[in-house]
Amino acid sequence: MSTLIDGIGMLFDGQVERLDAAVVVEGERIAWVGPSSEAPACDERHDVGRRCVIPGFVDSHAHLVFAGDRTFEFNARMSGQSYTAGGIRTTVEATRAAGEAELATRAAALVAEMTAQGTTTVEIKSGYGLTVEDERRSLEIATSLTDETTYLGAHVVPAGADADDYVRTVTGEMLRACAPYAKWVDVFCERGAFDGDQTREILQAGIKAGLLPRVHANQLTEGPGVRIAVELDAASADHCTHLTDADVDALASSDTVATLLPGAEFSTRSPYPDARRLIDAGVTVAIATDCNPGSSFTSSMPFCVALAVREMGMTPMEAVRAATYGGARALRRDDIGQLREGARADLVVLDAPSFVHLAYRPGVPLVRQVWRAGERVR
Ligand code: NIG
Ligand code: FE
Repeated sequence: MSTLIDGIGMLFDGQVERLDAAVVVEGERIAWVGPSSEAPACDERHDVGRRCVIPGFVDSHAHLVFAGDRTFEFNARMSGQSYTAGGIRTTVEATRAAGEAELATRAAALVAEMTAQGTTTVEIKSGYGLTVEDERRSLEIATSLTDETTYLGAHVVPAGADADDYVRTVTGEMLRACAPYAKWVDVFCERGAFDGDQTREILQAGIKAGLLPRVHANQLTEGPGVRIAVELDAASADHCTHLTDADVDALASSDTVATLLPGAEFSTRSPYPDARRLIDAGVTVAIATDCNPGSSFTSSMPFCVALAVREMGMTPMEAVRAATYGGARALRRDDIGQLREGARADLVVLDAPSFVHLAYRPGVPLVRQVWRAGERVR
């Protein structure tokens, strides 16, 4: 069964725009991409008019398994207070108290919200349980929603715990319980969370257990996170807000993607990372939502694209590329994030003649259709 998606104003294929282009979908895959006039015969024809088609968004950083609400904390920040890592413990308390069904329902609702906004792949982290069983069940829920699951037992040291004892648990019993449900291991490397030595130890234990590393790095302060990410060939260093020239050079000469999370700077009223500096140095950049109840409670990749353009010095093309191809690179995937022959047929039809409208018309619901693995899901 082949479907021709036609009448498209523009296609976005890695870094190439094409006018009047078409896509042929066969099963779960893209079978052909090119000018409409040269499209092969297909079983079905799906005309989307003068609308732009882009790859589905790849949201490579999200914390979706939690309970509770931190409106109060957000409100206090907007009245002048600053963000600290300590707020995570509020969500940990609520998450531990919640039943599994409630956590699963809430996480699924957030994934549905993301799908409606064009996200076709999402990474989901644990990190609001911080006991062996609460982390394990968070990851079990995440596994039911995505293949891209991340063990973040090292989010913060939970209230009342000794840091050394907790690192022993994270690298021992908790890791053994969580590894069967996780692809990735992550650490929040930051003042108030885990220092460089702890970060390295936890990531190395995860790697030994068969997980792949990624790091919450340099979000609130300069620190060793980015350097450790590069040293361990992490797929991604996430946040990258406070970077030295040495950090930028290290990223540029590595396969580690810099994942920027502008929703966090928006919601914490903080200075944005300098995407221009990274791109000009040759670093591969991704954009993701960081969807979580504390620092960035948005599920919207279009919103993050608009922020990246307006606040981080990216062109619309760079931002859309970072939200699709960049996210795929941050998950070490080459089957998603691009409209090319052989890729998974994850497409978004925008109610706009150009992807530029994602930044030009911020806050407007432009996602008209979403296709995932060749199936229309919206
Ligand atoms: O990526 N930085 C650490 N973790 C989240 C914040 C989580 C929270 O505040 O609840 C983040 O911003
Ligand atoms: Fe995060």
